[in-house]
Amino acid sequence: MEEGQPPSILPFLLLLLIPLPTALCWGKDGHYAVCKIAQDYLSEDALSAVKELLPGSAQGHLAAVCSWADDVGYTHNYRWSQPLHYVDTPDFICNYRYCRDCHDSSGHKHVCVTAAIHNYTMQLQSQLNYNLTEALMFLSHFVGDVHQPLHVGFLGDLGGNTITVRWYRRKTNLHHVWDDMIIESALKRFYGSDLSTMIQAIQSNITDIWLNDVPVWESCAHNYTACPNWYASESISLACKFAYRNATPGSTLEDEYFLSRLPIVEQRLAQAGVRLAAILNRIFTSKTGTITGTARL
Ligand SMILES: *[C@@H]1O[C@H](CO)[C@@H](O)[C@H](O)[C@H]1NC(C)=O
Ligand SMILES: *[C@@H]1O[C@H](CO)[C@@H](O)[C@H](O)[C@H]1NC(C)=O
Ligand SMILES: *[C@@H]1O[C@H](CO)[C@@H](O)[C@H](O)[C@H]1NC(C)=O
Ligand SMILES: *[C@@H]1O[C@H](CO)[C@@H](O)[C@H](O)[C@H]1NC(C)=O
Ligand SMILES: [Zn+2]
Repeated sequence: MEEGQPPSILPFLLLLLIPLPTALCWGKDGHYAVCKIAQDYLSEDALSAVKELLPGSAQGHLAAVCSWADDVGYTHNYRWSQPLHYVDTPDFICNYRYCRDCHDSSGHKHVCVTAAIHNYTMQLQSQLNYNLTEALMFLSHFVGDVHQPLHVGFLGDLGGNTITVRWYRRKTNLHHVWDDMIIESALKRFYGSDLSTMIQAIQSNITDIWLNDVPVWESCAHNYTACPNWYASESISLACKFAYRNATPGSTLEDEYFLSRLPIVEQRLAQAGVRLAAILNRIFTSKTGTITGTARL
């Protein structure tokens, strides 16, 4: 609206007509959990790098900036980043291929969540002329997103966004169920509506039933710093086996769906947290290695 013009009601009417932009990713709780879990696994080097890159109110806490990419994604200056939150496969294809799938809706290649993880890992590693605070905030967010199974869903239904379902009595869509509703219902039912209790439960399993899996989760083939293509392949496979199954348009999802899918959600939050820490530890260890390479002299 221009200064001095009478306020027009038109933009507000238009807002009512246009469907709200579909959710970008794990809700705030999911992202918070991923970053909170990662924080505890940071090496000393990574922790001090994170503290350097996140001054001010975040005070070196990843969880404080984990949803930043969503918050800015709706603003004009960062609209370009919206396609970086997900990647879609062709309809009913339960595998992911970088070359086939990583593009935006206009067909521009290398624009998707896995490319973004490569991109920001590379930026943090190269330490060149990038805004490394933004790189860290984007990376922390996108490692979370790529673990949400429906962030690697089918193109035709926009990762479940166009599949209208009922979550118990509430009307919503399947994507939103996986971003938010499963976590929200779990918080109410099992964790006294307290996110930190849920995070602690996930952390206990990381050091118990998943202990032997953690080194596998952390590792990347060829000693790569990050391996987003692998995380995306897991996600589409889980999307087919669990998210899409028995969740056709118009269906009502209740206890049977909720109780069988919650363990998947909790394990994906755990994997995302462990892997985010592993990626940052590799980035900032190699960084220290380069800088203090002179120590060998
Ligand atoms: C890589 O990062 C730069 C800087 O934020 C951004 O302009 C570009 O769109 C990013 N590309 C991808 C695929 O993430
Ligand atoms: C880097 O990005 C952050 C977050 O957008 C911003 O607050 C900061 O001013 C940027 N730094 C530079 C040097 O542009
Ligand atoms: C932890 O593991 C137990 C045993 O498999 C399982 O019953 C529980 O749901 C898991 N909790 C979380 C938060 O992963
Ligand atoms: C990965 O790194 C480890 C330890 O630095 C090394 O022993 C191993 O040979 C490397 N593997 C590959 C495939 O490069
Ligand atoms: Zn997102």
